[in-house]
Amino acid sequence: MANYILFGAQWGDEGKGKIVDMLSHELDYVARYQGGNNAGHTVIVGDEKHILHIIPSGILHDNTKCIIGNGVVLDPFVFLNEITQLTKRGIDASAKRIQISYNTHIIMEYHKILDIAREGKLADTKIGTTGRGIGPCYEDKKARIGIRAGDLLDLSIVRKKIDNALTEKNVLIESLYGGKALDAQEIFDKLSEIVPTLLPYLDDTNSILQDAVKAGKSILFEGAQGIMLDIDHGTYPYVTSSNTVSDNASIGTGVPSCFVDKRLAVVKAYTTRVGSGPFPTELNDETGSHLQKIGHEFGATTGRTRRCGWLDAVVLRETARLCSPTDIALTKLDVLTGLDELKIAVKYRYEGKEMLYPPQIPNAMEKAEPIYETWDGWKEDISQCKKFEELPKNTQNYVKRIAELMNAKITLVSVGPDRDQTILID
Ligand code: IMP
Repeated sequence: MANYILFGAQWGDEGKGKIVDMLSHELDYVARYQGGNNAGHTVIVGDEKHILHIIPSGILHDNTKCIIGNGVVLDPFVFLNEITQLTKRGIDASAKRIQISYNTHIIMEYHKILDIAREGKLADTKIGTTGRGIGPCYEDKKARIGIRAGDLLDLSIVRKKIDNALTEKNVLIESLYGGKALDAQEIFDKLSEIVPTLLPYLDDTNSILQDAVKAGKSILFEGAQGIMLDIDHGTYPYVTSSNTVSDNASIGTGVPSCFVDKRLAVVKAYTTRVGSGPFPTELNDETGSHLQKIGHEFGATTGRTRRCGWLDAVVLRETARLCSPTDIALTKLDVLTGLDELKIAVKYRYEGKEMLYPPQIPNAMEKAEPIYETWDGWKEDISQCKKFEELPKNTQNYVKRIAELMNAKITLVSVGPDRDQTILID
């Protein structure tokens, strides 16, 4: 079986968890390469709903091992809580199945406090972060003052690093944000308590994955968030703090991209976004509320309502040129059932000009207007269709148009949340 990079083609929440889970039975490893517990992957197996924030969805398959790569930022408390939850459900979440890179950066208490405090201070320019400390943790990584998982092997290093960090951060917390200074010893003690449980999970994941490649094992590199939330290529500043583009799988795990066979873009059949930022095809009307309700568009991490809108092929074209997908998994197609007509934005109008790609000038996307084409909807229940040919003609036309607009083949169509509500085309 091939090695895959799987990534969200829009602003996240495309339904990646289900697709990873579907592919996992054929995989030896699922590796996360960026982001942290800002992600929320929902997987439904039988009557059970699993929401995973940091552990790759591959954990739900007995034979798959999970890697948390160097590019991830890890909240150790959330990680251990997830381990407990999985164990309670009878899933083996031991260190035999999950390894964290020594180089993964650790999200500390002060990262979360600063994330929330900063958002509180921004008036009309709030990013709408998940408040999980993701941005401040990546900031420390770039400032070269971060604490890495491997540092936990020597707690004296951790103690010094907390002291150093707080010298600066307490000034911000107290003087700028009017909060209470944090106590280094308290933070250290709390972290030290969980270190013995955490240590068995730490490993040289780069070597593990390189050896796996040499041995012909199959790896899925699991992206979090979506391409439009990429720190360099997304709708900055309304983005996350990591690179979500598919090539970051290589940097975030240490496996060169020449060993990757397929790049699988997960595309939701309409568009959603949580948090602030431009969203040209947003529907602030009944259709938007309908998509929200039928699609259960509430964030798996923060419970926030997701903004909903028509499919945006300008965004998809941008994703296609940034990541060059070989395959597309189209999700939540069933949510569109019952609508009389469907719209797809095929271009934007920006300053009188028609554009195939989002305008690249900072903040210009806010002013871009979508140019739509309209497709006939369908009324038939598609949630039990098992083959592409069983889909109504109008549904088939909609699917084919998406493949055409992205210039890639659709190999999987999801028509419901369960594993078996899936049409495999190839
Ligand atoms: P942060 O990643 O928590 O810093 O949040 C930055 C932006 O990315 C906010 O708009 C979040 O709502 C968004 N975001 C972060 N993670 C996800 C995700 O998994 N799905 C969708 N949006 C996300």
